[in-house]
Amino acid sequence: MPEDTQGRHVIWHRTDVTRADRERQAGHRGMCLWLTGISGSGKSTIATAVERRLHEEGYRTYLLDGDNLRHALNADLGFSEEDRHENVRRVAHVAKLFVDAGVVVLCALISPFREDRARARALFDAGSFVEVHVHCPVDVCAQRDPKGLYQKVQQGLIQNFTGVSAPYEPPEQPEVRVNTDELSVEQCVNQILQYVRPRLCLDGDKVTV
Ligand code: ADX
Repeated sequence: MPEDTQGRHVIWHRTDVTRADRERQAGHRGMCLWLTGISGSGKSTIATAVERRLHEEGYRTYLLDGDNLRHALNADLGFSEEDRHENVRRVAHVAKLFVDAGVVVLCALISPFREDRARARALFDAGSFVEVHVHCPVDVCAQRDPKGLYQKVQQGLIQNFTGVSAPYEPPEQPEVRVNTDELSVEQCVNQILQYVRPRLCLDGDKVTV
């Protein structure tokens, strides 16, 4: 591989310790759990609870939360379509590094566009990317309004707000869908863990799923 795709003189350096080495050391596979859903649907709450459970069960985990990343790595991005594309692109690449590190990385981002999520998925091998649709009707999210944002939207203080004045394209075939208006946080977490746990087993002790 002489150059990168843009013709710059950047040569890929092959490193020695592999993902398989790291996964063996960790005792489980690396995986990207991608939580998508509108603001107030419960992505961060559920991702936090899933991470806690996995951590206590001995898995290596990390949580990439959209709001938090916008404080630093993505501080230069706003909420135009273009910036949201870039937001998802960056986080997906960071997540890929975590998976290569043998970690279970949870990404909690609105990620409103199907195409962006498909591009994120395409970075991973089959089975290493699990899309979780955190679903809740927008009127329920607006009632919850945990950050007071829906109220600000009503007051005309926020433009391009997902689900109200900007699009949200729900996943057609997510690996998991949790309905947070019908189930408790614990029930949603259990539903996700039930799907994920067997798929974190290393090949040697793979269970049929
Ligand atoms: S994404 O659309 O680019 O994936 P991301 O998940 O990083 O969004 O950030 C969404 C968070 O930014 C929301 O949880 C909310 O707190 C805040 N936010 C501020 N303005 C907007 C807006 N116009 N649309 C959606 N979320 C917004």
